[in-house]
Amino acid sequence: MPSQIPLLLLFMISPLLLAAPPPVSAQLSPEFYETSCPDALSIIGASVRAAVAGDPRVAASLLRLHFHDCFVQERLPGCDASVLLDDVAGSFTGEKTAFPNRDSLRGFEVVDVIKASLEVACPLVVSCADILAVAARDAVAALGGPLWTVQLGRRDSTSASLSSTNSDLPSPFSDLNTLISAFAKKGLSIIDMIALSGSHTIGQARCTVFRTRIYSDNNVNSSFASLLRSKCSIFGKDNDLSPLDMSTPTVFDNGYYKNLLSKRGLLHSDQQLYLNESGLVSSRVSLYAKNSTKFFRDFASAMVKMGNIGPLIGENGEIRTNCRKIN
Ligand code: HEM
Repeated sequence: MPSQIPLLLLFMISPLLLAAPPPVSAQLSPEFYETSCPDALSIIGASVRAAVAGDPRVAASLLRLHFHDCFVQERLPGCDASVLLDDVAGSFTGEKTAFPNRDSLRGFEVVDVIKASLEVACPLVVSCADILAVAARDAVAALGGPLWTVQLGRRDSTSASLSSTNSDLPSPFSDLNTLISAFAKKGLSIIDMIALSGSHTIGQARCTVFRTRIYSDNNVNSSFASLLRSKCSIFGKDNDLSPLDMSTPTVFDNGYYKNLLSKRGLLHSDQQLYLNESGLVSSRVSLYAKNSTKFFRDFASAMVKMGNIGPLIGENGEIRTNCRKIN
């Protein structure tokens, strides 16, 4: 009977419809706390601005915390505040001692202050994962970078993964193809990767992560390398710091890309984005070096995409009372 065909089709298609998860952006929303905690965003913004006024590097550290949160996902969760969980001797190992985080990830105390204020204003409402997303945005703005609308409604994980932290975060010793695939694995494009790398216009890095760059790489500006060798000796001084963008380390601008054009990228991985003057990646670096408005626009949209990586939503996960431990 012809009239049964549409019904049959619907019957065949509906399990597929049910199985396909709705897009993340349909579930997170900028207004998520509008009635449950109307002051949430202003509380976070004020704390970030106060912390950055005291120590401008904190802005870089908060931005990096959100990146290291979102990129680590064992199965689904990405931006789930797993990065904030402390180890508990004998029972729980978090992500803080993983190679990319140990001795370099900072900003935890600022998150604690924000969370304590939010627990007074609206207990058990605002997730630590959302605090990281908003704090990253406000930190960038505090140093003169772009603003964007943050999607909200992420929940906090009840677990963490040291092994995924080691495997999913890109290494400063990576080549271009490895960087591209690390971002592709998270659903981020080459353009997203180039724009997000502009984060290295602020903040600092330890000698141990750029030593081989200044002693062994050949695509490095020679006066830049010799200046850095005086601060980072071939042995020892592993934790001595240098700015990722030497000219304007506390201004969020397009200085990072200008540095790459003159072979002044601090990390080996940074300079991989500009190996020669041709090709898609190099020409995008040149574009951002010339046009900071374009960089700001692409950076803002890539940050929204990064913030959408596998959040916990609905009834999954929890809202932690203390970002360092599960409830
Ligand atoms: C493209 C691949 C990336 C690699 C290989 C990389 C690697 C690194 C390394 C090795 C450091 C210094 C850590 C140390 O001293 O031990 C660093 C610092 C930093 N990274 Fe990245 N990163 C990458 C992408 C990103 C992204 C996507 C963001 C943000 C969205 C970001 C934000 C930062 C910031 C702001 C700092 C300075 C932090 C501070 O001063 O506390 N990085 N990164």
